[in-house]
Amino acid sequence: MPAVEEILHPAAAEFLKSRPRKMLIGGEWVEAASGKTFETLNPATGRVHATVAEADKEDIDRAVKAARRAFETDWAKTKPSGRQALLLRLADLFEENGEELACLETLDNGMPYTAALNGMVPRVCNTLRYYAGMATKVHGETVENSIPGNFFTYTRREPLGVVGAIHPWNGPLVVASRSLAPALAAGNTIVLKPAEQTPLSVLRLGELILEAGFPPGVVNICPGFGATAGSALSEHPDVNKIAFTGSHITGQKIIQASAGNLKRVSLELGGKSPDIVFADADLEQAVPGTAWAICRNAGQVCCAGSRLFVEKKIYDSFVSQVADFASTVKVGNGFDPETQMGPLISEKQLDRVTGYLKIGQEEGAEFRQGGSRMTNGEYANGYFVEPTVFDKVQPDMRIAQEEIFGPVLSAIPFEDLDEVVKMGNNVQYGLAGAVWTRDISRAHAIAKSIQAGTIWVNCYNIFDDTMPFGGYKMSGYGSESGPHAMEIYSQLKAVCVNLGE
Ligand code: NAI
Ligand code: MG
Repeated sequence: MPAVEEILHPAAAEFLKSRPRKMLIGGEWVEAASGKTFETLNPATGRVHATVAEADKEDIDRAVKAARRAFETDWAKTKPSGRQALLLRLADLFEENGEELACLETLDNGMPYTAALNGMVPRVCNTLRYYAGMATKVHGETVENSIPGNFFTYTRREPLGVVGAIHPWNGPLVVASRSLAPALAAGNTIVLKPAEQTPLSVLRLGELILEAGFPPGVVNICPGFGATAGSALSEHPDVNKIAFTGSHITGQKIIQASAGNLKRVSLELGGKSPDIVFADADLEQAVPGTAWAICRNAGQVCCAGSRLFVEKKIYDSFVSQVADFASTVKVGNGFDPETQMGPLISEKQLDRVTGYLKIGQEEGAEFRQGGSRMTNGEYANGYFVEPTVFDKVQPDMRIAQEEIFGPVLSAIPFEDLDEVVKMGNNVQYGLAGAVWTRDISRAHAIAKSIQAGTIWVNCYNIFDDTMPFGGYKMSGYGSESGPHAMEIYSQLKAVCVNLGE
């Protein structure tokens, strides 16, 4: 395949040339107060492609102050229609610059360029436009009360103030837009802390935000590490809310850090989602459907279908078909147009995933497909792992309980609906789940019984801005996406007026 540089969109190449990338605070591109920078690399090659200003406590404090100022001045004066127009303008700019943004996403994250361009770009545009619409639909209510006398009562829905958003590396722009759009539509200002592995595309988004004409300080972007910038943001006394997506361990730290000023927290954490196949399912649909549920984005998806439950009477043949399908998935550099699955994000993630491959074998599970890191030829310097299917998995094994966050599927047979519901729910997580069947009653029974925020029937990983997305149990709380997201970015006020005689 041609060198990455040849495939890179000229604008993305231009973006990379001006280094180090600065951070966005109060409408200005600035260096870190410490002068520190960090490197970001391409997980397909292990090569560093940019150096980025590294935010720490002092920078976070500057950004929060800028966000507060904007919240109290320019943004407070911007009418809902003005917020709407700015979000729509941003969506148009995002679309116009889609190829460049997709390039940066592939370069930093490793995802296939085709997926970034044809999946991520329209998805982000849709999100921006959906919440642009919501900006003009923030409603309080007049309330008929029973208070003796003559009282008028109503509610107002008001913005929270300054939102801090701490994001992961698995879908940098999708996750950023999912916090940014409802937060701004509801009238908040924001400080974004992208993941240290993938700062570039969100910094480019920052340029588009300025170009769209958002007032300075409404959006601030501070790339940096979790223990420094992330924790400074989550404990900052003048931040009103943290929107976090990432691991449950970090989610727990964020709750603790939020205690100082009792800031609101919404958490979109991991999962170990059950993907349930009954013998009556359309198997031509279910085989690729269940394979892609774990191979998409190399399994680095919070709602990945990582536990495959198959009805006993078709278990062997179905698992074989999934394994065969997984073996045909083309793994490679995301810039290769043939590539369907890219690398894992980092060496750390590679160690984690290959660690689980070992743990699974030690626990007594066996590989039906894959099971190794890929190291030949073009794979040598990247973090590639084969699509892997584990068989002979017991439901209490670590590979069936813990989030692996790689292309690793654990297959388990089941006898009947009651048994699969019990096994399906027997994990600490509850983000998503799916059922494949032609029996409509059974489909609804599963949809009702599985304790998870999203259930797919005869499909997987389908998203829409109108649908809430959030977790049960250790998968977090607070629904991102859908009209409901406007609630987690606002607060309700009751007003009681004595009208007298
Ligand atoms: P992480 O949860 O540590 O990182 C996510 C974000 O939190 C990053 O921006 C990071 O800088 C920040 N962060 C880290 N420590 C922090 C702290 N003490 N205070 C504030 N912010 C902090 O996840 P990591 O280490 O990248 O991945 C580990 C595992 O987490 C993955 O293998 C996967 O299982 C899970 N994960 C789940 C994601 C999801 O979409 N639900 C996304 C990323 C990771
Ligand atoms: Mg990177």
